[in-house]
Amino acid sequence: MTPAIIEMKRITKEFNHIRVLDHINFELLQGEIHALLGENGAGKSTLMKILRGIYQPEEGEILINGKAVTINSPSDSRLNGISMVFQEFSLIPSLTVAQNIFLTRESRSKLGLINDRIDEKKASILLHEMGVDLDPSLPVEQLSTGYRQLTEIVAALSQDAQILILDEPTASLTHTETMTLFGLLRKLKERGISIIYISHRMEEIFQIADRITVLRDGKNIITEQVQNLSIQQVIEHILGHKDVREIKKSTYLVDPTATPLLEVNHLNCNQEVCDVSFKLFAGEVLGLAGLMGSGRTELVQTIFGITPAQSGDIKVKGKKVRINDAKSGMKAKIAFIPEDRRLQGLSTMHSIKENFELPLINLRKLEKHKIFVDDHKIVALANGFVEKLQIKCDSIDKEIRLLSGGNQQKVVIAKWLSTEPDILIMDEPTAGVDIGTKTEILEMARNLANEGKGVVIISSELQELLSISDRIVIIKNGSIVDEMLRTEVKSEDKLHQIIQGAQASV
Ligand SMILES: Nc1ncnc2c1ncn2[C@@H]1O[C@H](COP(=O)(O)OP(=O)(O)OP(=O)(O)O)[C@@H](O)[C@H]1O
Ligand SMILES: [Mg+2]
Repeated sequence: MTPAIIEMKRITKEFNHIRVLDHINFELLQGEIHALLGENGAGKSTLMKILRGIYQPEEGEILINGKAVTINSPSDSRLNGISMVFQEFSLIPSLTVAQNIFLTRESRSKLGLINDRIDEKKASILLHEMGVDLDPSLPVEQLSTGYRQLTEIVAALSQDAQILILDEPTASLTHTETMTLFGLLRKLKERGISIIYISHRMEEIFQIADRITVLRDGKNIITEQVQNLSIQQVIEHILGHKDVREIKKSTYLVDPTATPLLEVNHLNCNQEVCDVSFKLFAGEVLGLAGLMGSGRTELVQTIFGITPAQSGDIKVKGKKVRINDAKSGMKAKIAFIPEDRRLQGLSTMHSIKENFELPLINLRKLEKHKIFVDDHKIVALANGFVEKLQIKCDSIDKEIRLLSGGNQQKVVIAKWLSTEPDILIMDEPTAGVDIGTKTEILEMARNLANEGKGVVIISSELQELLSISDRIVIIKNGSIVDEMLRTEVKSEDKLHQIIQGAQASV
């Protein structure tokens, strides 16, 4: 029998007397890929942070290679051969890719000086091995979220770890990047490295994992070989019930001769958005598809005013608007749910309630109404969303930073939906959100469109893009290269081929 490299026994963890892990048993075998699954707030990251020495359990023991160990710090964890890619980004933005990869393990010259050149060469070899086309001398702050995630993974891999923990590594990766990562994970597995893999994407689990363990409300639900289970069974274990709703597809009823809700003409920005023109009609959900680095995120950031356009114009309901910062974007009744929620979407030191208040107060200011916002209304609004999106928290006064990753994402989405925008732009809205709530979020966006508003959505999950969009445009090198109605795309595979084909025809 394959030996267990890690055994976690009866692990119990509480925060402020609230039990988030309740006598959890978890075992990782030598050379296996073990997926850890569960809804947002189930306790996955907490269990892994115990292995990483960030939290200490109240009860239970950890054995590595059969020997009991105490892991009091990340360096203890590293000494035990464990490395981890966190759900929240941990790179230093001002440092380069290579400097981040070799942070605290820098190459030094004979005189003891840090030698960036050597580390850049080493990084370049690692990146190449992983099939990531990235210049190691670039500062991380210049990278898109997807590339930051790949850098984190390479950094973890560079530590010669025997045990690798990946906490939602693919949340921002597109299909192609995910496949590259999977190729690498398989190689590592062949070398005998053991991997714990956290993800909310079911299809991926079935492609890559040998076994799964499901947690629900801090309790063990099941540990089983993937081959003995169907996707439906796994979903039922995660949810605790059978019901997974599918989003109802709408029939496309948009009038293309009407004045568009949003019209973008010849938009240009920093060579990342190149002469983009498109229309969004009332009642429509427009999907933006493309590979990582294709310029999807840059395009929506330009429309909302985060990186203002250098030329071209934007019309809302037929009227030209000048959008040169996010404030003017909001004033034009556009809401933007960013991909990098921690940096742009939330004030993590504030409570859920305060995060709801902020955009509303700003809007009032912009509209020159009185600044007073009815507290009862905010409380009702926040509580309503907490229930609808199943945001796991003891109360709306809980600070955002204490919520699990997926629950933070739900708050970002809820707070922007609550501003009742005319145009909603969503960049990877369901990345990291559990299977039980994904549909709810997409349905809220769909309802907004059905009420005569418009939605622009970027999603790397093609199935999701196909389930919600009426029309899809394909972006490549900052330009729109193709456009089609959803009904013209026969399947997810077909859309994938179209995106790849667009890329190949450069
Ligand atoms: N430092 C903390 N203080 C208080 N509560 C915490 C803290 N860290 C986590 N929690 C709570 O513990 C529970 C489990 O959180 P955890 O981050 O482990 O969930 P998760 O399974 O990783 O979810 P997700 O899929 O959203 O990432 C949540 O209810 C969360 O609010
Ligand atoms: Mg988590």
